[in-house]
Formats: sequence, structure tokens, C-alpha cells
Amino acid sequence: MRKPVIAGNWKMHMTCAQSRDYMATFLPLLENLPEDRDVVIAPPFTAISSVADLVKNSCVELSSQNVHWEGSGAFTAEISPTMLLEHGVRYAIVGHSEPRKYFSESDEQINHRARSAQKHGLIPIVCVGESDEQRNRGEAERVIRRQVEQGLETLDPKKLVVAYEPIWAIGTGRVATPEDAQAVCLGIRQVVRDDSGNAAADSVRIQYGGSVKPVSAPDLMRQPDIDGALVGGASLDPEEFARIIAYRLVG
Ligand code: PGA
Repeated sequence: MRKPVIAGNWKMHMTCAQSRDYMATFLPLLENLPEDRDVVIAPPFTAISSVADLVKNSCVELSSQNVHWEGSGAFTAEISPTMLLEHGVRYAIVGHSEPRKYFSESDEQINHRARSAQKHGLIPIVCVGESDEQRNRGEAERVIRRQVEQGLETLDPKKLVVAYEPIWAIGTGRVATPEDAQAVCLGIRQVVRDDSGNAAADSVRIQYGGSVKPVSAPDLMRQPDIDGALVGGASLDPEEFARIIAYRLVG
């Protein structure tokens, strides 16, 4: 069975002081959470150390929002896996559509980052997804197949999360329907099956991301090939994020 993983991507939000206020509200809300799901927060780099202290002894695990393929070196503005591991970080988001768009990240670079993460014991969260134009031109399937094939090359599917994030759904309030999100996530699993076999496809966790809110989370989580959510805007509000995390499949 795949354990769903609900991850909050704080993007370029939250100072250390704001993170402290957030956790004071957020952590008590997780007290009776069932252990059948993983909870992850990806703070900006400057807040990782503070948040690491605050979430000690809680169920919350940490992710970075990026990771470099080298352990150290002349790579201004980058962050290495060892720097993250020092703070107990377990996951690393790579290939988010924002760095893909603003910094022209390629699938090859994303694959380097993800491989480096795995080599150092971090679990990469590899983001894929089509733009509105690509979807309207009927290219979504082809674009996502390429991103998955190139981005996941040689990765171990058991230590990997893929996040399907249609770009048109990110920060727009236009959440994908559960049926559409399920169809794409099933397609992603099929690409993994074609490339790496049944065991790999059955173990890779696939999240949906893009305008997930407490009201839309349960129906998304109910889909057989959706194993969690990557949440941006709604993860900035501790009460809203806790409600997403506490989704119930029945009742
Ligand atoms: P959103 O962002 O939930 O604000 O749409 C999701 C993401 O970018 O990961």
C-alpha cells in the first residue's frame, strides 16, 4: 500500500518569526491525526533551521524547495544535499513549474537534481504538468510523458514522489476535477510501468497539486492513483492546511 503524502510548499513566503507563529497554531491541530499519511512542509531555506527545531517530536517532516546535484562547489544561489541533511530535511522538491518557467530549468537538470537527492538519501518530489496552451492543443499527454521519462531517468521509484501539477491550476483557484487528475496520474504510473516494470509503478507515490483546498482534497484523495497533494497557497494558512491534511475518505 502506498502511504499518501500531503506536502505544503511555502514558496517565497514565511520569515522565521512567521514560521514560529504558524507552528504554534498548526502543530496542536495535528494531534489526533491518523498515521496513515505523511505530512511535509517545504519552507524557504532561511526558515528551514527554525522550522526543524519547531517540528521536532511532531509528525511533520521537512522538504527543501530545491537541491543541487553537487555536494559543494562554485554554484552561487544553490543548495547542496548535505546542507539540507544537516537540518533533518527528508524531501526535496525539484522541477516545480516556477523554476522551470523563470529559470528555464530543463528536464535533464531536474533529473540531475533528483538523482543527487536520492544518492544522498533525500526523497525527490519531481513536479510535472502541462500549461493551458499545451492542454488546449491536445499536447498534455505527450508533454507529461516527456517530463516523466526524462525527469525520472534512473531514479529508484520506491524513494520518489511525483507531483502532477497542471500549470493552469497553480494559484488560480481552478482545481482539476478528480476524474481528470486521476486520469493523468494513472497515465504517469503507466509511463513508470512501461519504463521500470510493475513493482516500480505500484510503489511510486503520485501527488496532485494545483489549487487544492479543504473542500476539494477528499475527492482528490479518494482517487486510486492519487497518493497525496502538493499544496501551495492553502498551506500558508495553518488551519486550512490542517483541514486538508485531515481529509477523510468516508463520512
Ligand atoms: P497552489 O500551488 O496550491 O497555490 O495552487 C501549488 C504548487 O505550486 O505547488
